[in-house]
Amino acid sequence: MPTRSTPGSDGDDLVIVLEHAAASPDSPVAAAPAGSREPEVLSQAEARIRVDDLAVTRGDGVFESIGVLEGRFVELERHLARLAHSAAMLDLPRPDLAAFEAAARAGVAAHQPAPELLVKLLYSRGIEGADAASGWVQVLTGPDHGASRRDGIRVVTLDRGYRHDIAQTAPWLLQGAKTLSYAVNKAALREAARRGADDVIFVSSDGIVLEGPTSTVVVREGDAFLTPRTDLGILAGTTQAAVFDALGRLGYATAEALIEPERLAASDGLWLLSSGRLIAPVCELDGHELAVDREFTAVLFEKAFGLTL
Ligand SMILES: Cc1ncc(COP(=O)(O)O)c(C=O)c1O
Repeated sequence: MPTRSTPGSDGDDLVIVLEHAAASPDSPVAAAPAGSREPEVLSQAEARIRVDDLAVTRGDGVFESIGVLEGRFVELERHLARLAHSAAMLDLPRPDLAAFEAAARAGVAAHQPAPELLVKLLYSRGIEGADAASGWVQVLTGPDHGASRRDGIRVVTLDRGYRHDIAQTAPWLLQGAKTLSYAVNKAALREAARRGADDVIFVSSDGIVLEGPTSTVVVREGDAFLTPRTDLGILAGTTQAAVFDALGRLGYATAEALIEPERLAASDGLWLLSSGRLIAPVCELDGHELAVDREFTAVLFEKAFGLTL
């Protein structure tokens, strides 16, 4: 059993700090079964990160947030692969995916059971000058997203300020990596709140739909479901992948596309997908009401995640 110290003031939430977050040069590329040493599980109040860690001083690292439903990790392999992909985009050493997975599993096993948990994998360039990446895993109780999932969310479109081909023309801007620098994404969400909305869909400076600050866009046009192409400097969504798998099983066509914002308002359904909230239908876009198909959203939940909405 993993060790667990006395919980602190942050309730049941837990942290596991990895001893070696980077993979050794000869370790396999894919996640291997958990190693022999049990990770130490700490309460969130007890865990410590050094103030000179580059995650703290520069936001110089990458992360993943993974949903855990009734103890079951959602799309774990896709999250681990994306962590490695983001790390490569930042020229970080290859993360030890087996160590991250073992820590995540130990944390979930030690956590107070809950219908939905959120596991965060954090991987940093480490302490300035030390030349050793650092990593840790948080296991958090997920908030209640019931109302957003059932009733929908109000969304505004905001200019991201980059062209849709930014990933090719300026890869050093790291668009498409899940970096620890989410200050801009958080600022966009505050701008949405100022405009009376719950969330954001970013649009490129040349008028192409991108993604939300923490979510992937899915549009319905008749019996076809579209999502923005992942070569637009956006994240390849793991929730979107799971939902497209489910749509395929239901017999619907799915595709990546270049989507102009006008098509969102004219669509037959619009959703924002992400690992914590999973599927949220959009009920209002830039102040205009959109129809929410609750029944269909419930079918998708059941098919993709085995959850009753
Ligand atoms: C910028 C961005 N796009 C898309 C997503 C959705 O990805 P996933 O479904 O894998 O959580 C996230 C998730 O946090 C995100 O931060």
